[in-house]
Amino acid sequence: MADEKINVYRFIKDEDLRKTFAKVFDQNTIMACHKLSTKGLFDVVEYLINVGKEAHVFRARDSSGNFRAVKIYKTETSDFKHMDKYLVGDERFRDVRRDKRDIVFAWTRKEHNNLDLMAKAGVRVPLPYGFHENLLVMEFIGREGVAAKTLFAGGCRDYEKAYETVVDWMARLYFKANLIHADLSEYNVLVNVDARDREELVLIDCGQSVLASHPMAQEFFERDVRNVAKYFQKQGVDTDYARAYAAVKALKAKYAAAAPARGGKGKK
Ligand SMILES: Nc1ncnc2c1ncn2[C@@H]1O[C@H](COP(=O)(O)OP(=O)(O)O)[C@@H](O)[C@H]1O
Ligand SMILES: [Mg+2]
Repeated sequence: MADEKINVYRFIKDEDLRKTFAKVFDQNTIMACHKLSTKGLFDVVEYLINVGKEAHVFRARDSSGNFRAVKIYKTETSDFKHMDKYLVGDERFRDVRRDKRDIVFAWTRKEHNNLDLMAKAGVRVPLPYGFHENLLVMEFIGREGVAAKTLFAGGCRDYEKAYETVVDWMARLYFKANLIHADLSEYNVLVNVDARDREELVLIDCGQSVLASHPMAQEFFERDVRNVAKYFQKQGVDTDYARAYAAVKALKAKYAAAAPARGGKGKK
């Protein structure tokens, strides 16, 4: 155990953050961190960007100084019933045993695989760099080390354009990647500003995303469309549920014809 504690000093330099880690995460999670850092996926964890229902997201750096985002799913307090609903019925994760840790590990693997498939379908998501147990390492979204705000928190400059982007994502997901995001809202879209001061939208939080063959896929899809329509309508975009739904479906011919990036079995 003493050795395991020493490892924490190697990848967390900040004393307060070390204390937080010790309080919030169990020894297995700290060891998983150690494993990913020795694999070179990150070097130092720097600070907590945000904590959500299911995960803590930290900013980290690799040994060349590049920023990384490290998402650590909670293994103790996660809502397992909720998670299970999205795993059962997704044929990629049929073989997952149903104890708490297995579910969270499968969820982490699922988010990694989903991000990969989404990126291949041309949806702007953080690029996934690797995972182990309940840890996912991905591209850090932000400018000069400052994490991007969500669409909910910071809004954006051009809502018409943002709406078109999100509709385009939904169509690419559905028709090209065979996926439904299943938690699409202004809370899971980041608005990044690049070095040339241009805004870029980035879709995050893809652990719950399911294959279109999931028995609840249609329900999840309709909920996504509803959230998107409601938010953008409030921002003055001339849309509603029916129009947003039609706008996504109208892109079928554009995207369904292209070679599909189908979701295969999740990698172990
Ligand atoms: N790749 C990233 N780069 C920068 N910040 C991120 C990144 N991923 C997540 N975040 C931040 O962490 C928060 C929680 O992440 P999210 O994936 O939405 O998890 P949760 O399931 O806890 O909602 C986000 O609202 C955002 O502020
Ligand atoms: Mg979220």
